Amino acid sequence: MIQPIYLDYNGTTPHDPEVVAAMRPFLETEFGNPSSSHLYGIKPKQAVEAARRQVAGLLGCAPQEVLFTSGGTESNNHAIKGMARALKAKGRHIVTSAFEHPAVLEVCQALESEGFETTRVAVDGEGMLDPAAVAQAIRPDTILISIMHANNEVGTIQPIAEIAALAKARGIAMHTDAAQSLGKIPVDVNTLGVDLLSVAGHKLYAPKGIGALYVRQGLRPEKFCHGAGQEKGWRAGTENVLEIVGLGKACEIAGRDLAANAAHFQAMRDRLHQGLVSRLADVRLNGHPERRLPNTVSLAFKDLEANRLLEEIGLAIAASAGAACHADTVTLSHVLQAMAVPVAWAKGTLRFSTGRYTTAPEIDRAVAVVVQAAEHLRQSE
Ligand SMILES: Cc1ncc(COP(=O)(O)O)c(C=O)c1O
Repeated sequence: MIQPIYLDYNGTTPHDPEVVAAMRPFLETEFGNPSSSHLYGIKPKQAVEAARRQVAGLLGCAPQEVLFTSGGTESNNHAIKGMARALKAKGRHIVTSAFEHPAVLEVCQALESEGFETTRVAVDGEGMLDPAAVAQAIRPDTILISIMHANNEVGTIQPIAEIAALAKARGIAMHTDAAQSLGKIPVDVNTLGVDLLSVAGHKLYAPKGIGALYVRQGLRPEKFCHGAGQEKGWRAGTENVLEIVGLGKACEIAGRDLAANAAHFQAMRDRLHQGLVSRLADVRLNGHPERRLPNTVSLAFKDLEANRLLEEIGLAIAASAGAACHADTVTLSHVLQAMAVPVAWAKGTLRFSTGRYTTAPEIDRAVAVVVQAAEHLRQSE
């Protein structure tokens, strides 16, 4: 069977062969526990610390500021809950945006049951956050601002450095979820000015179930997982050496090849976008035309239903829907809702995200398939 063309790199990425090669010894022979003082523990321990340096190299921070986690969700939980609980004597107010990933929004909601309050700042119709709106949301008891670097659905890149400067001037901790931006655009914790930053390995050609959290030196989020002393005692549990090694290699590659990769992602994305808008009427972009990840294009096909479109193209293309339509009801993603995309457009939204292995012939085939499916559905209405 021919595999569908993969255009869902924001969903997850395949493993880079260099990542697989780096991991292989730790799958096959190097089974030791990094905490062991005998010979078996030495290589795993060295590998974990080498990976920490690789992640730090990509983020522009010190290795001791990198904590390994199980992925983007855990990193966000650790950053937000950990800081909120550590700072609760100072205040109980958190500022975030309305279109964060659930791994931020749900965490804030959970904290509300512990007596914290959250302000979810609105985004505009292009999926951009205005730093002035964030400034307005800040209160004397605000302890944390958490704003995603780039949105997973529409790819918009938020003005994190400006928002972080606001936070710093007021002594507020600043977290950003960089799960989607890392490896696609430059991500440097000092340029961004953030105090905490979340990393998700599987968006970066490393395996699923591994991630990292940058915590600026001197900050003390509450312990996330109690147990033995791994990860400075903040996140106890024997290290996932195999995947930590994979994440380290993935970060090294992401930094090394960033410019070439971004140019390729963008060329493929724009070829797809141009191909579709030049051949189909009533297709428009969700999100900002420029301030957007180079690999992401969220397209609204007016008056079509995203799940029907996905069904039509499903054997040929792997993409994702921005809305779910059932009988008479339409459930729009919270991102499109936050952007107030009109229902007639939003309900027919598909997200395409390109990556390292996307090819021009694949894109041309994808354009032909989507055009045919959209025309077919429009004719049958
Ligand atoms: C912006 C963003 N944050 C967090 C996550 C969650 O990361 P993980 O799947 O590693 O838990 C994702 C994954 O879709 C994401 O896109």
